[in-house]
Amino acid sequence: MADIEKKPVAILISGRGSNMMSLVEAADAEDYPARVVAVISNRPQAPGLAWASNRGIETIALDHKSFASRQAFDAALHDTIVGTQAKIVACAGFMRLMTPQLVEKWHNRMINIHPSLLPSFKGLDTHQRVIAAGVRITGCTVHVVRAQMDNGPILGQAAVPVADRDTPESLGRRVLTAEHRLYPQILAHFAADNYDISQDTATLKVDLPADKMLFSPLA
Ligand code: GAR
Repeated sequence: MADIEKKPVAILISGRGSNMMSLVEAADAEDYPARVVAVISNRPQAPGLAWASNRGIETIALDHKSFASRQAFDAALHDTIVGTQAKIVACAGFMRLMTPQLVEKWHNRMINIHPSLLPSFKGLDTHQRVIAAGVRITGCTVHVVRAQMDNGPILGQAAVPVADRDTPESLGRRVLTAEHRLYPQILAHFAADNYDISQDTATLKVDLPADKMLFSPLA
């Protein structure tokens, strides 16, 4: 098989890290266009750190509580990411607001996953608000990070039905399953430079067959 370029990726987490795990496992494939060079957490006790370390991946805990300001933490985070040689940053349940300065330094090189169909339901307690609003379809979104929270060019989405008796927990589990399928696919396209990205939108440069355009995780 021809050697393919594997872009170095740093993954930012704050907790469980199940999306990080799905990216690490996808990147194990020989033909995946990215490799995970580090997993970084702002919470030293994040369970995902131990999992990544057991897989032989460099893990770094940068406790936000030991920094005097958000600016100081973000400056240290930037230096840490640069130190890993990463060319792409994938946020995977990283629950810290970032300063515009940090976001700007990784312009069009930092992506995030959010558990709703953006631009609907930005922010926290997403599934609870989805149920309260009575919508029948929710999902998840991978997007390029911009300075405003849960904003930025949408790279890919997966639709997930809301069931009548869903609780935030049951709906969250269904959406999470879709996240684990969506994020590795989108990171692959992103790492392979398959997107044209403008300030607000992203378009795939490659033509996808019709059956790949709508990503339906329950199919
Ligand atoms: C995921 O559902 C992710 O979409 C969400 O946090 C969870 C992290 O789970 N992210 C956000 O809400 C960001 N706004 P994980 O640690 O198991 O990947």
